[in-house]
Amino acid sequence: MHLWTARTDDLNDGTIASRVAGILTADERDEARRFHRARDRHQFVVARALARLALSHHFPVPAGDWRFARDHNRKPFIAAPEISPPVRFSVSHTQGLVACLITLCAQAAVDVEKVEPSGDLPLVASQVLSPAEQGALSVLSGNDWTARFFDYWTLKEAYVKARGLGLGLTLSDVAFELASDDTIRVHFAAAINDDPSAWVFWRRRLPPQHTISVAAEKDFDGECELILRPVKFDGARIAPEA
Ligand SMILES: CC(C)(COP(=O)(O)OP(=O)(O)OC[C@H]1O[C@@H](n2cnc3c(N)ncnc32)[C@H](O)[C@@H]1OP(=O)(O)O)[C@@H](O)C(=O)NCCC(=O)NCCS
Repeated sequence: MHLWTARTDDLNDGTIASRVAGILTADERDEARRFHRARDRHQFVVARALARLALSHHFPVPAGDWRFARDHNRKPFIAAPEISPPVRFSVSHTQGLVACLITLCAQAAVDVEKVEPSGDLPLVASQVLSPAEQGALSVLSGNDWTARFFDYWTLKEAYVKARGLGLGLTLSDVAFELASDDTIRVHFAAAINDDPSAWVFWRRRLPPQHTISVAAEKDFDGECELILRPVKFDGARIAPEA
C-alpha cells in the first residue's frame, strides 16, 4: 500500500497547478474549470496530477494515458488501461497537502486534513463522534484536543471513502479507539452492518500541521505495510522530498 503525499504550501498552489495541468485530460481540465474557488480548482488539478504521476511510477504507463471515471457515488476509479490484478487509487486534498493512496485492495482510501483549531469543532465533534470518542476527547484540551479530533475525523472520512458511500453513513456509528501504542480499533453500530476485524487502519501525523489516515479492507493474506512516499513537484514531475 503506497501513500504518496506532496506539500503544496511551499509553492503557490496555482503555480503547481498550471505546471501540471498539461498531464490531465481535456475532460479533467473541464472538470477543474467548474470549481468556483481557485483553491478548490488547484487542489483538484494537483491531486489528479499526483495520482497520474504516482501510478506511472508503479506501472509502465505514461502519466497522461491513464483514464479515470467515477461511479454513481462519484468515487473515482481507473477505467483504462486494464491492470491485472486491478489497482485502485484514492486521493485527498486539503490546504497545503495532497495525498494519493495506491493499492490492490478493493476498498481502501485516504483522508488528509490540516489540523487547526476552530470554534466550530466542539459542535461538529458532538455531531460526528460516538459517545466513547466524545468521552476520550473530554479529558483533553488545547492542541491535544484538536489533534485527537482530527485523528477521529480523518479515520472516519477514510472509512467512508473506502466504502465509497459518500454521505450514506452516520459518522457517529463508526467509532475509533486509539490506544497509546498507536493501535487503532474500530467499532461499528449495527446500522453499519460491517465487521471490524475485516478492516485495518493507519493514522500518521505529518508535522507541522497535517494528519493523514488510511482505511483498508483486509482482502489480502498476512500483513500489509503502508509505505509513505513524500514527494515534491518539480515542474510537471515529482521527486522525493529532501
Ligand atoms: C466524499 C467525501 C468523503 C470527500 O471528503 P473530503 O474530505 O471532502 O475531501 P477529500 O479531499 O478527502 O476527498 C475528495 C476526493 O474523494 C474522492 N471521492 C469523491 N466521492 C467519493 C466517494 N463517494 N467515495 C470515495 N471517494 C470519493 C474524489 O477523488 C475526491 O476528489 P476529486 O473530486 O478531486 O477527485 C465527502 O465529501 C463526504 O461525502 N463526506 C461525508 C462524510 C462527512 O460528512 N464527513 C464529515 C467529517 S467526519
